[in-house]
Amino acid sequence: MLDVVIANTQPLAAGICGLTLKSVDGSCLPAFEAGAHIDIHLPSGLVRQYSLIDPSRDDQYQIGVLLDPQSRGGSAEVHGLEVGQQLSVSEPRNLFALDADAPHALLFAGGIGITPIFAMASSLRSEGKSFELHYSARSRKSAAFADQLSSQADCFCYFNDEDNALDAMRVLTQAPVESHLYVCGPAGYIEHIFETARQLGWAEERLHREFFAAPEVVSEDGDLAFELVIASTGQVLEVGEQDSALEVLEDAGFDIPSSCEQGVCGSCVTRLTDGVPDHRDSFLTTTEQASNQLFTPCCSRAKGNRLVLDL
Ligand code: FES
Repeated sequence: MLDVVIANTQPLAAGICGLTLKSVDGSCLPAFEAGAHIDIHLPSGLVRQYSLIDPSRDDQYQIGVLLDPQSRGGSAEVHGLEVGQQLSVSEPRNLFALDADAPHALLFAGGIGITPIFAMASSLRSEGKSFELHYSARSRKSAAFADQLSSQADCFCYFNDEDNALDAMRVLTQAPVESHLYVCGPAGYIEHIFETARQLGWAEERLHREFFAAPEVVSEDGDLAFELVIASTGQVLEVGEQDSALEVLEDAGFDIPSSCEQGVCGSCVTRLTDGVPDHRDSFLTTTEQASNQLFTPCCSRAKGNRLVLDL
């Protein structure tokens, strides 16, 4: 864990607050690559993940946070933080890294999804690599970095209130062969880009995405109770209709790393030896989910009445 102090706060756009964090003792912070995020431990005890914006600086971390009335409280708390306040943050982790061998990168950002995508564009530009950035937002006023990006030839901005919309089919059809695409934004936006790419036959390994909030998963039957069996000991734990598997494991004394608790970050991924999970995370790829070998206990459940965990 790193102890940091808020060195600066500034609006990046309407409703988006930029925070600059420096180490408390003035030392350099651990380096990171574009796409990385940190967990921020807020004074209330909430832990939230935010993408880091500028990989070229090792003396500070910069994040951008949208004030979201639908959020579970984290964004409002961040907006209330003040210069000089101290926080604990995790070391950077990167679950959304650029593929170093891709000949061309197509970057797509929806709304506040611009934060990791902006870092990717800066990094690709500084390395002289080929990319295009497509950024969709409600309005120019609500779009962080809009002025900076609009003036660059390889960046294309789309604003709802200016009546220009992204034509994903056109962009993907014209992309150079073997391009990789990277999307961050709301679930529906990511789904649209991914579905378009799949229709055009893009291979799954060329598709990369990061949700900034978990899409809501609604079970038609309601949640059912199931059993977790611990493979090494045979211990059986009951997960009630209202419980999460993660809570049950923690109550039984298992130390499962966790962070987002909504299936986004991948911290809690646990191996399975038997059973079919009802995957509700946004972290595992379609192939990983279909393998039935991995499980995110923070949000996923069981399709049958038991899962055997490789613990
Ligand atoms: Fe983040 Fe489970 S804690 S995916």
